[in-house]
Amino acid sequence: MRLIFLGPPGAGKGTQARILEQRFGARQISTGDILRQHREKKTDLGAAAQEYMDRGELVPDELIIKMIEGELQGAQGFIMDGFPRTLPQAQAFDRLLSQNHWVLDCVVLFSADRDTLIGRLSSRWTNPRNGRTYNTQSNPPRVPGIDDDDGGPLVQREDDKPQTVGNRLGVFEAQTKPLIDYYRNQGKLTEVNGLLPVDQVTAAIVRTLPPASGQQAS
Ligand code: AP5
Ligand code: MG
Repeated sequence: MRLIFLGPPGAGKGTQARILEQRFGARQISTGDILRQHREKKTDLGAAAQEYMDRGELVPDELIIKMIEGELQGAQGFIMDGFPRTLPQAQAFDRLLSQNHWVLDCVVLFSADRDTLIGRLSSRWTNPRNGRTYNTQSNPPRVPGIDDDDGGPLVQREDDKPQTVGNRLGVFEAQTKPLIDYYRNQGKLTEVNGLLPVDQVTAAIVRTLPPASGQQAS
């Protein structure tokens, strides 16, 4: 399974990538989660990314592309969650796919309206150790502020503050939206309604997958 998840902040990319990873074994590659881990470990990349992420801007393409090349070494299936996000990233990814003789199954575009996205991000709580998200409105943890599985604390992301969320939505419009036509022109784009309940979004994604993409009935 080789998928790209494309969509604005809060559309549900991470939620669905984790579900499909568990169901089909294809690895979720979330550039946001990987960058946050670099920040946590205080690596050079983490330090370089910090100011961009805190402002809700994109980290420079050359840093992201180098990071992805490393992450994909030895990979077979993958669900790209939050990459590519610019045309240069998409073009670099196409080169990487062709060097590895990999064919993309499809690019799933998550649609959702601005008010819903803002509402979801302001009520999101995240496990910083593995990127799992909860939502105090739609998917609360059993104990507030505590992860159901590992029992550790949940946090609210710095970039989920209202001012930064506005920037992130603007960045999506300006820099990532052109990828919709890019992948539509390649015949790869499928759209799912990100406003549906989580299990219905999962079902809609599974329906869009081509038969050869490794999905099995479950
Ligand atoms: P990143 O971490 O990728 O953030 P994002 O794209 O802004 O997306 P989010 O993670 O906020 O949303 P999501 O779609 O995953 O939604 P989720 O499933 O959590 O990037 C962060 C930063 O890193 C960027 O701003 C940039 O600085 C940098 N960066 C990352 N990648 C980069 C790249 N390629 N190039 C350059 N810079 C890069 O869901 C949201 C909430 O809604 C949760 O609480 C969830 O429980 C809830 N929810 C989900 N689905 C549903 C549903 N169907 N119904 C009700 N609630 C739902
Ligand atoms: Mg995410």
